[in-house]
Amino acid sequence: MRPMSSARSILALALAVTVAFAADPARPPEAAYTTRPRTRDGIGKIYFGREIAQVMGHQGAGWLERPSREAEERTDLLLEALALKPGEIVADIGAGTGYFSWRMAQKVGDTGRIHAIEIQQEMLDLLMANMRRRGVADRIVPVLGTVQDPKLPPASIDTILVVDVYHEFDFPFEMARAMIAALKPGGRLVFVEYRGEDPAVPIKPLHKLTEAQVKKEMSVHPVTFERTLSLLPQQHIIVFRKT
Ligand SMILES: C[S@@+](CC[C@H](N)C(=O)[O-])C[C@H]1O[C@@H](n2cnc3c(N)ncnc32)[C@H](O)[C@@H]1O
Repeated sequence: MRPMSSARSILALALAVTVAFAADPARPPEAAYTTRPRTRDGIGKIYFGREIAQVMGHQGAGWLERPSREAEERTDLLLEALALKPGEIVADIGAGTGYFSWRMAQKVGDTGRIHAIEIQQEMLDLLMANMRRRGVADRIVPVLGTVQDPKLPPASIDTILVVDVYHEFDFPFEMARAMIAALKPGGRLVFVEYRGEDPAVPIKPLHKLTEAQVKKEMSVHPVTFERTLSLLPQQHIIVFRKT
């Protein structure tokens, strides 16, 4: 096959870009993805100046359930700060083994629901086994999402919790847009990320995020920043509301 002339290549590229934006007019140009050679823990895809991290594989599931986790991360303080009410409808995005799904299921009670969203079926299997063992399976709605779509019903969720996941979304723009669409008006979107500002937090750099970075990335979405809580030893809790 003959290689395309450079003029034709440029024309084809311009057309592809035009089609991409025409297909998604709501996407601002600053939220575009670019690529560069990947670093050790990244996927080589750049969003708002940061490289997206690799997804944590299900082989690492044991780390999520490590007995030292509560003391290290003070997950009890995070749950207290969420102040979930009985009957609340929650989505745990990137739920992993269900470390938070289980604890939140206890807070929302029999009338509440936790939508546990994962892209790895292996994680969902582990999660549901854990929920059955702990007697809360009937409060959990397990969902196998895709990297772009958590497959949640529109305007149906009170609180979305995203713990240690946002930095590894392959499609952060699409995921944020879909999560916000799933929130009820006034619903909460809560990010918990290891503090990128703090070199003392012993986590790989691509797996940490600064508050400023999260705010910048959310500025292209219809949410209002509510507050950042700094009460955890290693992570910040960054809360937005659907506007
Ligand atoms: C580091 S684990 C955190 C698990 C859990 N939130 C916790 O704190 O115990 C990240 C999880 O997010 C999941 N994940 C990554 N991208 C996702 C996406 N687009 N939608 C749903 N889950 C995703 C991964 O499969 C992985 O299980």
